[in-house]
Order: sequence, then structure tokens, then C-alpha cells
Amino acid sequence: MDGRDLVRSVRVVGSGRGALGLRTVRAAWRRRRIDAAGLPRRGAERARVPGQVESVEPGPGGGVIRFSRSELRITVTVNGAVFWGWDGSGPQPSYALTGGCPEPDPRAVLEPDKDGGWRVVAERVTVVVSRHGAVEVCTPGGVTLRRDLPPRWWEPVDGGTARWMQRSEVAADARFFGLGGRASGPRLRDGTYRLWNTDPGRAFAPDDDPLYLTMPVQLVVADAGTHLLFHDTTWDGTVVLREGEEGAGSGHDQVGRCEVRMDGGPLRCWVMVGTPARVLQTWASLTGAPALPPAWALGHHHARWGFGSEQEVRRIVAGYQERDLPLDAVHLDIDHYDDHQVFTVDRERFPKLPVLAEELRRSGVRLVSIVDPAVKAAPGNSVYDGGAAVDAFVRDASGRTVLGVVWAGESVYPDFTHARVRSWWGGLYEERLGQGFSGFWHDMNEPTSFHAFGEPTLPRSARHALEGRGGDHREAHNVYALCMARAAYEGLRELAPQERPFLFTRSGWAGVQRYGGTWSGDVATGWPGLRASLSLVLGLGLCGVPYSGPDVGGFDGSPSPELYLRWFQLGSYLPLFRTHASLRAGRREPWEFGPEVLEHARVALLERRRLLPYFVTLAHLARRTGAPYVRPLWWGAPEDRSLRDCEDTFLLGDGLLVAPVLEPGADRRAVRLPRGRWYDTVTEQAYEGPGQVLVDAPLSRIPVLARAGAVVPVRRADGGLELEVWAPARGRTGGGLVVPDAGDGWDEPEIERYVVRRQGRQVVVTREGEDGASEPSCPVRVRGLG
Ligand code: NOJ
Repeated sequence: MDGRDLVRSVRVVGSGRGALGLRTVRAAWRRRRIDAAGLPRRGAERARVPGQVESVEPGPGGGVIRFSRSELRITVTVNGAVFWGWDGSGPQPSYALTGGCPEPDPRAVLEPDKDGGWRVVAERVTVVVSRHGAVEVCTPGGVTLRRDLPPRWWEPVDGGTARWMQRSEVAADARFFGLGGRASGPRLRDGTYRLWNTDPGRAFAPDDDPLYLTMPVQLVVADAGTHLLFHDTTWDGTVVLREGEEGAGSGHDQVGRCEVRMDGGPLRCWVMVGTPARVLQTWASLTGAPALPPAWALGHHHARWGFGSEQEVRRIVAGYQERDLPLDAVHLDIDHYDDHQVFTVDRERFPKLPVLAEELRRSGVRLVSIVDPAVKAAPGNSVYDGGAAVDAFVRDASGRTVLGVVWAGESVYPDFTHARVRSWWGGLYEERLGQGFSGFWHDMNEPTSFHAFGEPTLPRSARHALEGRGGDHREAHNVYALCMARAAYEGLRELAPQERPFLFTRSGWAGVQRYGGTWSGDVATGWPGLRASLSLVLGLGLCGVPYSGPDVGGFDGSPSPELYLRWFQLGSYLPLFRTHASLRAGRREPWEFGPEVLEHARVALLERRRLLPYFVTLAHLARRTGAPYVRPLWWGAPEDRSLRDCEDTFLLGDGLLVAPVLEPGADRRAVRLPRGRWYDTVTEQAYEGPGQVLVDAPLSRIPVLARAGAVVPVRRADGGLELEVWAPARGRTGGGLVVPDAGDGWDEPEIERYVVRRQGRQVVVTREGEDGASEPSCPVRVRGLG
């Protein structure tokens, strides 16, 4: 046990998981023993670089360039993305891609470049390969966005998986974003970011890294353009980032640097170039459209670890109803399970769950169930027996079922990388639907096993099917939760084909948006945790996962009334708006913090309900275009450096700008504005951007500004739909898209396009369709005319 292990074991014992006592110590030793026997020993290695170009073989969309010690395949695909893979690797097999690989673009051809290099020229990007194997990504105008130096491999002399390293340079002004859910972002500053999904084992702060959902996706924004780079490799790795600085001198370089090191897996990349919107659209076309949540999932959710009984659930729901506070979903945590066992119910404390669910549904509140992957290793437990019957559980290299420790004690883990296992697991949600649950919350799926020391997950040598290819946990770990989400999503589509599944998952990987969203995990209660909440949502959105949100109020401890309120106000503008807290944490109901907080929380809840049609529109647009609901300020103007560095304000769709209060004691705050006119949505005061303005932020609200010309669909008090239109500045026009709610099924609503014109003191709104302009489909309310 080294020093870090000791710290970890003290943490485990101190975190409540220590209640599992000696079992976590035994599990850690067991894991160590299994890996000692099952993992290849790291022996002598040989380093390799590609060497010199020797020949080329043109092919559709690019071709293959042969070097003396490797070969590089480059393909430009019809969706505008570029693939390149070393050592003969192609785009498949891949856990990220959906529906196969896009077709090569026949217009892109491999042609000779200067100094013995080669290039592929495509519509939006040119890729230049030097004769030593450096790969440059350039804009059509010839400006370099990224230069990957020739990679380096270290191969075990006696065979086995090679490690590799790829160094890259970007412009001095470039900023890095992404890499999955990072608490310290959204701008990823100089540092080392690990690619290994990890339960930090306690409430996390901004400097905790890695967290539950990592992915090798970098979004890089620079003056010359934006690009998204994806290393399609599921193995453990690190990314070291170092921003550059123009005219440097401060110890920084004139270029930004990125170094990716991977413990194994193919060295292959996808790159997409264009505006942020274009890049995210291409990314979604490659890895799948984000699942569309049902409309109720865009309302307010209340969760709690430790409701403990049906009476307590009723008491909380009644608390909302008596105070006329909107509530759309209640989440039951592991305490409603029988002895913490997944797919069971504690019949003493939850004797009539389906009746409770029906009662809640009638009052407009859905029930959501937590689902953990680990199954208590107890013959007689029907999930365990059923899984054993289909040989579902992960085994070690010697063929023994791997045991971990989670809430229920010693447990086994389904191998979700096997289609048969996914199909068995997907069928288990029938029990949940029978209990009346409408949505599912996947937890502990990094996967986590409580260990007194060492990594809190399965042994690295544990065996996985990996869709028939066979491999071990080093390769399967990061996609474990992705495959679990797939199992649930596909199962639910069969079990309840008329409804869109609602699923969100703590861990995941590139492509997880196809099945659902995610949430922050156990964010620490405190002002830094509030800031981390926003960082996670923004960063994940830029990796293609648009639906997420934090535990409002923080997971542990007790927030001050002010912190709770500011978290509540921020949460009410994020896609997943959910209060949640740990077993031993203080209360989180809006009425538990005094009458003033209750009144302000009510305003936030009512505003969220009013904006529901806007959230529905954003959800549809995310599915159709890949654009996240919550966007960094630079989304529409990545060339504006001051926006690129602004991390405390965000855009909600095209129309709204939200400036949460992230510090104690504030009653106003500086708000950076992109170009154009912006109206304070409460006072209607107009501000002109670009620039920075000081805006009131009393305890009663956080500043929310509307873009002049925006069309925001809102819900009227009587439930009807209305278009809130913000007056364009004189001589300007505006407009927006509205997607009406078409229920929780699969009907495809038609997108409505609105154009807003200013005629003198008047604002005219028309709906544009194929047959010309027509009247809006609902009443219009113009604001901002002063
Ligand atoms: C860890 C999750 O992150 C948290 O949200 C949940 O309450 C606990 N597990 C208990 O299930």
C-alpha cells in the first residue's frame, strides 16, 4: 500500500462506505491478486516512430500513405469529417460511431505536397502529411489549426499492446474545451487530464480529476477556426494541455501544446473543422443524435438519497403542492431497494409502489428509479440467478466470476459489452415499469467497486466480450456505462415502444447522448461546487452530450440559504433541473431555507415552467443539429477572444443569456455581452454589446438577458403557448425556430420558422413556410419596445 492508497483507504472508511468494513479491504487485495496473475507484465519495450514516407495508395476520400515503420490511412467522409488511423487502423470497430462509418467523399483526393509530403484537400479542411508523418489540419484558406507531430509507440518486445504518444501544437490564442465532464473548466487550463472514468469516492471539488465521465474529445477554439478532435480509443490515458501565449515571455510558448498518451488501443482520430455549430452537427452525425427527453423531464425533479418510505415521498410531494410549487418528477434512490439490491423494492417501507406512482402521475409527477449495475452475489436473488443462467457476469482471466463490493455487499458485474447480456439486462426494466417508474437514473457505473485501497473499479485484467473480439477491462472500462445505457435504452424501446425512454447516467463515453443524458455526480456543497456545476454542463455539451445538470444545493452537507438559492437559480436554466443530496446531508426542499428563499425559489420554478416550451424546442434542436441547449458565450462568435475566456455566463439556445451568481454576497454582477442588443428580461432595460455591463442581481433573481429579435416560446398561465418576441433594434431583423411539443411518443413535430421585422414603432412577426409567409400559430407578445 503506498501513501495514496492509505489516503484512499482512510477516505473510504470515512465516507460511510466504510460501513462495508473489511469487505472493502478484502476486495482491494482480491483485485490486486487477480491483476498480478492476469495482467501481462510490462517487460522490455521497443520505441518506434513512423519513419520516412515510402509509397502511397490513393483510395476513396484519401488513401493510405506508407512509411518505413507504419502506415497512415486518411479518409475524408461525406459529412465533412476527416478520419486518420495509424498502423492500418480503420474507423471500425468503434463504440463511439453509430450506424457504421460515413461514406468517403469521392471529391477528396490524395495529392503530392512540398518536401515529399502528401495532402488531402476537402471542402472544409485540408490535411497535410509530412514525409516523417506529422499531420497538419488546415483551414481551406491554408491556416494551420493543429499540427500533430509524428507519433511514437512503445511495443512490448514479446508482443502485446503498444502504448503510444501523440504531441500536437495549436495556435497561441487557442483555448481547449471538452474531454468529457471536467469540474475545473469549461476552459481547460494547463494541466494533466486523465481519461479513465472514476468515482472520486466523495463529494468532489473543482480540482478533482478525473471524474465519472471522460472522453477523448477536444474542442479547440482559435482565431483561425474551431476544430473538434476525437481520439477513438477507449483505453486509459492522459492529456496534458498547455495554452500558448502570443509574444510570450511569461514562461509560456508561442504555441499551445497538447500531449496525448494512451496505454493501448489504436491511434486513430476524427477531426471536424468549422463553426462551433457546424462542428457539433458533424459530431452528432458521426456519433448519434442526442436522445430526446420526454417533456416532463425538462421540468423540475426532486431527488433524495434517503426518502426512506412512501410516507416521506408523499410528504415531500405534498409540500410542493401545498405551496403551489411546480414539481414534475421524484427520484427514488437505493434506499427504496430491498437490502440495496437492484431491481427490487423494500416492501415494508414501500408496500404499494405502483399505487404511489399512479397517484403521483395523476398529479403530474413522474417517478424515476436509480439503477446500479452491480448485482448482489446471492443465489436466490432472482437478478443474480437470471444473470448467472445467461453467463452474464464479468470473469477474471482464470475464468472465476469477479466479485466487487458496492452498497449491497459482495456483488458481480454484468458484462454489458456482450449483446446477449445487454438484451437480458434490458428486459429487467419490465419490473421497474411494473412498479410505475417512468425514468431511469444509472449510477455507480464507472463501474465502481469500493476498495480500501487501489483503484475503485474492476481488476484491469477482468475479461470482457467486447462484441466478440474479447479483451480486458483496460479496454472495456471507459465504455462500461455506455454499453449499460445502450442495454437499458434498447430494452425500454421494446418494453414501452410508445414512449421515449428517459435515461441519464453518471458515467459514459463518446456517443452516450444516443441513449440519454448525465448529471454532475456528487458535487461538493460550497461555492466552488456551484461553479463546477456549470463547468460540467458546458463541457459535456461541447462533447455532444447536451442534457445534464448538477445536484442543486450540492450533494453533501448543508448549503447556506444564499448558496442554495443561487444554485437553484442556476439549475433552473440547465437542462436537468434536479435537487438531490446524500443520505446524511441537510434538507434540500425550497421551504427549508426560510420564507425569503422560498419566495425566490418559487419565482425560479415558475419561470422554468413558463420556459418549458423553449426547453422543448432546444431539446428538439439538439437532436436535429447536435447543438447543446447550454452554450458558451463564444458559440456564435468564436473569434471574439474576450468571449472565449468568459466562463461564468452562458447562452441558453440562441435567444437567452444567463449570468448566474457564483459568489456569496453579490447583488449585481459584471456581464459580458456578445455583439448586438440585449434586454434584461425583468426590467426590459437594453444593453449594447459587445462589451461588459454591470447588471443588478438581487437575491430574488440572476440576470437573464434576451437577444434583440429573439423568439422565445413560453407557456402562459392558462397553459397555452405564446411567442415572446424581443424587439429587434431599429433597422435590424430577428427570428427563431420553435418546435411544438408533440407528446412523449415518437411523433415528429414540424419546425416553425419565425422572422421578426421592425417597422417604425411596430414589430411584425411572420411564420415562414414552404408556401410563403403566414400568421404565427399562437399569440405573440412583443417585449423591449420600452
Ligand atoms: C452515488 C450517486 O452519485 C448519488 O447521486 C447517489 O445518491 C448515491 N450514489 C446513492 O445511490
